[in-house]
Amino acid sequence: MKQNNGTQVTEFILLGFGDQNKYWHTLFVVFLVIYMVTLVGNIGMILLIKIDSSLHTPMYFFLQHLAFVDFCFTSAITPKMLQDFVGTEKSISFIGCMVQLLVYATFATTDCYILAMMAVDRYVAICKPLRYPTLMSQRVCIQLLVGSYIMGFLNGSTHTSLTFSLNFCNSNKINHFFCDVPPILALSCSNIDLNIMTLIVFVGFNLTFTVLVVIFSYTYILAAILKISSASGRRKAFSTCASHLTAVIIFYGTLAYMYLYHRTNKTQEQEKMASMFYGIVIPMLNPFIYSLRNQDVIKALKGIGKKCF
Ligand SMILES: *[C@@H]1O[C@H](CO)[C@@H](O)[C@H](O)[C@H]1NC(C)=O
Repeated sequence: MKQNNGTQVTEFILLGFGDQNKYWHTLFVVFLVIYMVTLVGNIGMILLIKIDSSLHTPMYFFLQHLAFVDFCFTSAITPKMLQDFVGTEKSISFIGCMVQLLVYATFATTDCYILAMMAVDRYVAICKPLRYPTLMSQRVCIQLLVGSYIMGFLNGSTHTSLTFSLNFCNSNKINHFFCDVPPILALSCSNIDLNIMTLIVFVGFNLTFTVLVVIFSYTYILAAILKISSASGRRKAFSTCASHLTAVIIFYGTLAYMYLYHRTNKTQEQEKMASMFYGIVIPMLNPFIYSLRNQDVIKALKGIGKKCF
């Protein structure tokens, strides 16, 4: 614990959405519904893929983990936020804050990597269809997945340890609805140059790497699709990656909004809204993006429906 002229910072206060407090009952209900839909959607997706053997392909293997990761990182922030909407005490312990940051930063980064690995999977499926079974073998998929989790943990553990080794003496009021790095750094009275540099390097590397993987994969996919002469063949090839492309655009679009727009152009409330969308709304959307308009998933759902009734 860090010293503050003899007193210790043993807890933080999460200010949440300061002036929107008068809507807290509405917000509570809205976010409770979002969270429940997220749980049902993602856990449902995980089970559906497990049960239906026609979904035992590399793409659904990654999708299953995407659902798990989404479920984990939203669970790190939403339940606590819900509690803060209704409770008067908006405090979070020092350790609680660390765990929240670790889980969020780890799984949010893993999410980026899994989306990139799914783009690679689509690239191999469309551009190298004959070698697909060997290139995307179970062994390779597991390696790519483990790599994604390792990169996530590297990001999470680095930022958590750097952030919480600082001294806090100005205030313990975090102007955010969960423990994220920038609002915590704002409270520190230590030198935070190293923290900011690490943040820029890590976020820069993770985002550049994964975005480049996605862009390269889709450039080749697009070129391959355009070469197909029949319109129905083109549509068929495109439909297998349409859901993934939608998820990628929403995910990286939000990240681009969060990081590329210069921070001073945005008010703190806008930043909170952006990270709320990223951390709470996107995890809810993914299962729907992948199940609506996706023939495999719809077929699997119907199959289960038939078995049950
Ligand atoms: C890594 O962790 C930081 C700190 O929480 C987070 O802001 C950032 O989004 C994470 N990196 C990526 C690529 O998601």
